Amino acid sequence: MPTERLKIEAFEQNIIQTCESLSNIISAFVANYQNGLSKDETIMIPSYVTCLPTGNETGTFLAMDFGGTNLQVAVVRLLGNGNFEIKQNHFRIPEESKTVAVEVLFDWVSRCVKKSVEGVDIICDELKMGVTFSFPVQQIAIDKGIAMKMGKGFTVPGLVGNDVVQLLNSAFDRQNLKIKIVAIVNDTISTLVAQAYTDPKSVIAAVFATGTNAACIVPISSIKKTTFPRATSLNLEEDIMLINTEWGLIKNDFLPFTKYDLLLDEKSDKPKFQPYEKMIGGYYLGELVRLTLLDFAENLGLFGDVLPSAFMEKNSINTELISKIDGEANFAKIIELLNEKLSINPSITSHFDIQILKSIIRCYTIRASQLAAAGLASLLKLRYGDFSKIETDITIAIDGSIYHKYQQFSQGMKDTLKLILGEKISTLVKIVGVQDGGCLGAAIIAMMYSKKSERLG
Ligand code: BGC
Repeated sequence: MPTERLKIEAFEQNIIQTCESLSNIISAFVANYQNGLSKDETIMIPSYVTCLPTGNETGTFLAMDFGGTNLQVAVVRLLGNGNFEIKQNHFRIPEESKTVAVEVLFDWVSRCVKKSVEGVDIICDELKMGVTFSFPVQQIAIDKGIAMKMGKGFTVPGLVGNDVVQLLNSAFDRQNLKIKIVAIVNDTISTLVAQAYTDPKSVIAAVFATGTNAACIVPISSIKKTTFPRATSLNLEEDIMLINTEWGLIKNDFLPFTKYDLLLDEKSDKPKFQPYEKMIGGYYLGELVRLTLLDFAENLGLFGDVLPSAFMEKNSINTELISKIDGEANFAKIIELLNEKLSINPSITSHFDIQILKSIIRCYTIRASQLAAAGLASLLKLRYGDFSKIETDITIAIDGSIYHKYQQFSQGMKDTLKLILGEKISTLVKIVGVQDGGCLGAAIIAMMYSKKSERLG
């Protein structure tokens, strides 16, 4: 089948990045970070977390992690010495709640919080909570953040432009919950802090999940945005700032888009928004595969004479399914999976169809892992200027379902980073997976900042 083979080869060449292309992407990222520190308000957002924990923090705090797919509510006991206990409840955010008015969404959130704190044995009048909110927020203080446009399928009337903490407080009041939110942070910031609680070498954190993002640490003096610092409470002696890069939002003029990326963007609910995230995030990878498969199936006559209806349906292929197909060598098992998840009749599915499907998935996974590695490398470049300046062991903390559950993605990312950094430097850069970083980090930050406000007050 020469035509088919040529077509898939051309597709592969277009998708998989060369070292040169990755190096250009890294430089473009660094230029954007610098612009973000001096001008662009939508990226490089100061978190108002101005130090890392020592590991000796203690106390019991509530934490909540509102992500793209799940809400976690936890009671966290920090025991000092880097030890902690965490009792966590997990709630899946109902699909229909992603587009309701903010009061309705946050009433659902506070009911989940109420269920989670019932019976919690903490003797005090008011529980203190740290909130991880995994969406872009224009932070103006540690406990104040104005919601910006949301990705990952969320459009919540009444949220954008308003303070998330105030809206949550009102929702807690409606449930008669005596909770004081002392900090709101991005999930990348809480991941960085959670890892730093036991590992002082942590310098960067990233999340690869429904969406993607990263956090880094910069000297406060390098933040030149006119809108910063707004808070008078910043201590000038604390000269670092943890930064939420919101790298997903970086403008798209240097990313290696194909016609399928453009199609996905055009048909998405927020065109031109979060272009990098649309090439890596779990919310989009399956859809990229579907759009490509649809084109291949139509043009190469795959999967029988009549196109399976699942191929026409937006978001019918999710990242969990593609990770299963990617990890499965047995074609008969893949045919079974397609039947079970997409109702594709096994009698119309040939081995050649599966070969093409697997090649498409492989290409997007390789590209996602290459771009993720380029993202991490760009933050190292921002921090060190040149990779050769990395002279001591450092840790990059990583959380997120794609990282933890999609082995081919995480291995590909580590391999690409090694290639970019070179054998010698890469032995100094440790990548550590963090579980439950959202809640643990939020609790630690709540502890660090409730203590501070008591001290200041
Ligand atoms: C959000 C980020 C978040 C990331 C990972 C993105 O869609 O904009 O704030 O950190 O997803 O959860």
